[in-house]
Amino acid sequence: MSESILTLSIDGKDVSAVAGQTILEVARENGIAIPTLCYLQGLTPVGACRMCLVEVKGVPKLLPACVTRAAEGMEVTTQTPRLQEYRRTIVELLFAERNHVCAVCVSNNHCELQDLARRVGMNHVRVPYRYPRLGVDATHPRFAVDHNRCVLCGRCVRVCDEIEGAHTWDFMGRGIECRVITDMNQPWGSSETCTSCGKCVHVCPTGTLTEKGRAAAEMKKRLQFLPYLTLMREARP
Ligand code: SF4
Ligand code: SF4
Ligand code: FES
Repeated sequence: MSESILTLSIDGKDVSAVAGQTILEVARENGIAIPTLCYLQGLTPVGACRMCLVEVKGVPKLLPACVTRAAEGMEVTTQTPRLQEYRRTIVELLFAERNHVCAVCVSNNHCELQDLARRVGMNHVRVPYRYPRLGVDATHPRFAVDHNRCVLCGRCVRVCDEIEGAHTWDFMGRGIECRVITDMNQPWGSSETCTSCGKCVHVCPTGTLTEKGRAAAEMKKRLQFLPYLTLMREARP
């Protein structure tokens, strides 16, 4: 069956898309950068963080590009002062919600949240910091989780479930009480489902999930495995 081809415009540029592609996929194919945080190519998009909001002509609300399908004749704008302000506010709220103290973080300078802050021009936070007292679980022999750095993007949950097939991670609680948990909220080190593959550690955009034995600024995330594994899965008969 032949694929249905659509035409639309993004930032004034006429582009084509295969029916079913998202605005984000089409934008990236055409070299148009839209900031993202919860999205990661190879994992199911969930539209959780709202960093990728765009404007679509004729639609009053902003739409998340990672979960909105491209449509025939759509006119999409990805960079406006309103979008810039929304994105900056989202990053500020994430910084204020937990304890992102970059100078002492193992992921300093290798952190997607920090990169986003630079990108949206965030030089201070305009809301009060919450300073929650959250825990660190270092019971796993190789890895640790510091809940103070978590932005609840869910990448760990999805990679562990969709790629590794272990489903060790999940979410517990709602609103400001929400946390990622291993198994039924048991210490990571006592998990009977974790295979110690390390995939969750490397897709985590911040210094929440890290390898033990790293000093501040040493923890580099390696994402290269994900496109490779995804390709191999798609190639399976
Ligand atoms: S190390 Fe692998 S199996 Fe264990 S929680 Fe992380 S992704 Fe899941
Ligand atoms: S632990 Fe990392 S990957 Fe998992 S939800 Fe938190 S920030 Fe995202
Ligand atoms: S990247 Fe689209 S909502 Fe998070």
